Amino acid sequence: MQEKPTINLGLEGIYFGESRIAMIDGINGRLYYCGYSIESLADNSTYEETCYLILHGRLPKGEELEKFSAMMKESRDIPQNILDLIKDMAKTAMPMDILRTAMSALPAYQKKQSGNPDEENFAESINIISKSTSIIAAIERIRKGLDYIKPDHSLGHAANFLYMLKGTAPDSKHARILDIMMILHAEHGSNASTFTAIAAASTLSDLYSAIVAGICALKGPLHGGADEASLSMLYAIGEPENTSTYIDDALSGKKRIMGFGHRIYKNYDPRARIIKKYLEELEGDADEKIRKLAKIEMEAEKIMIERLGKQKGIWPNVDFFSGPVYLSLGIPKEIFTPLFAASRSVGWCAHVIEYWKNNRLIRPLDYYSGEIDLEYKPISER
Ligand code: ACO
Repeated sequence: MQEKPTINLGLEGIYFGESRIAMIDGINGRLYYCGYSIESLADNSTYEETCYLILHGRLPKGEELEKFSAMMKESRDIPQNILDLIKDMAKTAMPMDILRTAMSALPAYQKKQSGNPDEENFAESINIISKSTSIIAAIERIRKGLDYIKPDHSLGHAANFLYMLKGTAPDSKHARILDIMMILHAEHGSNASTFTAIAAASTLSDLYSAIVAGICALKGPLHGGADEASLSMLYAIGEPENTSTYIDDALSGKKRIMGFGHRIYKNYDPRARIIKKYLEELEGDADEKIRKLAKIEMEAEKIMIERLGKQKGIWPNVDFFSGPVYLSLGIPKEIFTPLFAASRSVGWCAHVIEYWKNNRLIRPLDYYSGEIDLEYKPISER
């Protein structure tokens, strides 16, 4: 038998490639997209501009951004077949499952463009990024028995999503905060969903298939699904004064506190810090229920940092403060994770395209710890 090798459970600490897209400094809690700090992008950029940056590796000039934004607008509307599919699934399936299925069906209704692979990949990326938010707005409306609203090309990407979701143009503060939320979720190195997308793409499968793989991996509560799970936890806590007992009981029962901890960050996730700032900004105008959720969060943050922050490196992550922010913007919890997927679709596309430039099939090993040379017995003798 082969000697047992060192096994890196969860591929922890393994480098599988090189990238110029995101840099995460987990010790100091810093994040950069193509060299720009997440704080500077949240303060100054837009989701469209950040998408350009992530796809091209540099910030656009004025005309380039105009052209890019126009292309995104042109790609927003959804084919009737996809709307029919959503209608068919809306009564019984969850939004993340509908998004996954709709994404899988999308290429059936998109014309191939030029035959040039770079142009093709770029056009497909725009189609994926742009349509994913429209699909989510359609899913949520159709689930509620409402009609699909066509995109409004006078609005930016985030504002248009809120318009397609609610039927009225959002105020500029809400539109800007959603834009920032989308920037913060746009990219994050070789996380589980991006790695899954790359692994699928490494077989020389196609971009849509890779994105579907990314959506599948994002769904779980240890990854993107933690935004919804974290809000469910706040509801389960119920009142700010219950927070400490809830956390004690959970930790003594070896349960996870959702929205805390990260494989790479052993410090405060810089995205969570920014989201917390916007939660505080929104809280003043929010209703009583959201203010109570925010209070529970502040209490949970304090307790968790005292108990596990410095001691175990478990700090709030991007999913912790997102829930009440989204609720304040009128976004219901069932579409938090789909919206995360839509925002992250640009990171998935960029990584897949980058990986294809120096593609090698991803094929790690597992150590076989079972028996061999067993005698095969007929079924009647087992
Ligand atoms: N609450 C309580 N304990 C935790 C938490 C948490 N949220 N996270 C980690 N731990 C503890 C584990 O119980 C374990 O303790 P032990 O050594 O005593 O057994 C230790 O920290 C290490 O945990 P691992 O699961 O090995 O750490 P890993 O790096 O694999 O996990 C993960 C990272 C999955 C994110 C984890 O922190 C977690 O489950 N968090 C809650 C879910 C969550 O918020 N996920 C979103 C992450 S951000 C994103 O993906 C977008």
